[in-house]
Amino acid sequence: MAFENILVETIGKVGLITLNRPKAMNALNDALIDEVGAALDDFEANETIGCIVITGSEKAFAAGADIAAMKEWGYVEVYKANYISRNWDRIGRCRKPIIAAVAGFALGGGCELAMMCDFIIAAESAKFGQPEVKLGLLPGAGGTQRLPRAVGKAKAMDMCLTTRLMDAAEAERAGLVSRIVPSDRLLEEALAAAATIAEFSLPVLMAIKESVNRAFESSLAEGILFERRTFHASFALSDAREGMSAFVDKRKPGFKNR
Ligand code: CAA
Repeated sequence: MAFENILVETIGKVGLITLNRPKAMNALNDALIDEVGAALDDFEANETIGCIVITGSEKAFAAGADIAAMKEWGYVEVYKANYISRNWDRIGRCRKPIIAAVAGFALGGGCELAMMCDFIIAAESAKFGQPEVKLGLLPGAGGTQRLPRAVGKAKAMDMCLTTRLMDAAEAERAGLVSRIVPSDRLLEEALAAAATIAEFSLPVLMAIKESVNRAFESSLAEGILFERRTFHASFALSDAREGMSAFVDKRKPGFKNR
């Protein structure tokens, strides 16, 4: 697939997707989201890729869903097309780890896209918000669900109801982002984190991701049981033998994703 709205690169074991609609602040139209889905399909099918980074530009990770496109649609169009569910949910279904590297605006669907990733590394310039109410809409790509889970009800309500933006420092304090880095080092730091992840055993990474995500979908007892069984299952991996042997032998492990 030729990409027109994103740039796709492979850097060692890391797949990099750069949102690239500079004239529209990386507004997320259907074509762009389809391309992100296709790039994820390729990265997931590629055995050598262990982690994916999604980033935008210095000015904007993404300023939200494409308002010019949405303006033309009524209820029947969005319902019949299964808008958002049809292609945006692909990102949340990715089984390999995904890091969002966010600089500048991450608004509306941009903030929601970042939250679909496994964690967010923010540049000092990052600004998060859910301003959909200004358009007579509500957040529609998980903002009312993932944001309160990340930052708590009070801040989520404040952001969705008043449209107040959250800067990087507040986002880190609130738990929306995992770390803040200087703006000129954002991609370097995100790629370094991704490269670290990609050295580990892929089936273990996938199981960790499933297990952490289970924390948001189940009771504590059910989540603990899921983790325990997955932990037990990891003893069947030759990578577990290798990892533990390497520690005891005081050498670097060589994981084979098996
Ligand atoms: N959709 C379509 N185009 C957008 C856009 C969006 N979400 N955001 C910005 N653009 C376009 C602007 O229309 C403008 O295009 P032109 O040059 O052709 O006029 C260009 O990008 C640059 O934008 P601005 O001139 O507005 O730049 P700025 O620096 O003055 O402001 C901004 C930046 C604060 C991000 C402002 O553009 C803005 O408020 N954007 C909209 C944010 C928003 O409401 N997001 C929510 C969208 S709805 C949604 O996401 C629904 C959902 O949950 C799935």
